[in-house]
Amino acid sequence: MSELKSYVVWDASTRWFHWINALCVIGLAFVGFVILHASDLDVSNAGKATLKTIHVWIGYLFVLNLLWRIVWAFLGNRYAKWRSILPGGKGYFQALRSYAAAFIAGHPEQYVGHNPAGRLGIGVLFLLITILAITGLVLAGTDLFYPPLGHWIAQWVAAPDVAPGSLRPYAPEMYDVAAYESMRAYRNPFAMVHLYSFYVLVVVVVLHVVSVVITELREGGNIISAMFTGRKTISGRPVDEGRSNDG
Ligand code: HEM
Repeated sequence: MSELKSYVVWDASTRWFHWINALCVIGLAFVGFVILHASDLDVSNAGKATLKTIHVWIGYLFVLNLLWRIVWAFLGNRYAKWRSILPGGKGYFQALRSYAAAFIAGHPEQYVGHNPAGRLGIGVLFLLITILAITGLVLAGTDLFYPPLGHWIAQWVAAPDVAPGSLRPYAPEMYDVAAYESMRAYRNPFAMVHLYSFYVLVVVVVLHVVSVVITELREGGNIISAMFTGRKTISGRPVDEGRSNDG
């Protein structure tokens, strides 16, 4: 049997990002789901505004965490960098074919960082959470008059005798009717994209968790605990040969 070696893979920033992001996504999806069904649940307008406010505050943490990860993809160790986490680049399709063939044959290739199929999954996850972050920030402005666009939206919809800074959500008496209608028309495509990205994200997150568990069972390498400890234990020679701490 080949010798087991321990590799340093996920640096602290990457691990913190992963778990903060996972908790934020769970919180956002849960509160978002309640917002979606607020009318069926007989939630009052004040209750809806509170739910949206909680959702947006978790959203700000989620966005800051995502921004830091984007910066870290330039600064972090080799496994945290864009070329290791996104699909594409030189030799990617060849590596994907070779990984798929070996996986089907029952002797999967070992990787220290993400394998080529994993990079495809991570690419889709990053795209979806980025779309949710951007559309969510727009909706924070249109629905609650919160930053970054809320100041501008409030100036757009405030009735002539109302100070834009004093606008409250669900207070139609404070809005200019025509301006509010056109703001809602501008908002609708963002709300639609936000909602459908949420549905797709739920499916992709389930696939992500299932594939991580299958990979752990078929390939070993303790990939789940590696997201806590930062280290993977691998037998044989990994395709993307990393730094070994023990040998
Ligand atoms: C993974 C990230 C996110 C998920 C899964 C998510 C999920 C959802 C869902 C399911 C809804 C209900 C949609 C509806 O009622 O039509 C919603 C609404 C909303 N989201 Fe998010 N969201 C995310 C990120 C964000 C972020 C980052 C912000 C802002 C900082 C944000 C702001 C809002 C606002 C203001 C609404 C109310 C809009 C409405 O009533 O349609 N979301 N979100």
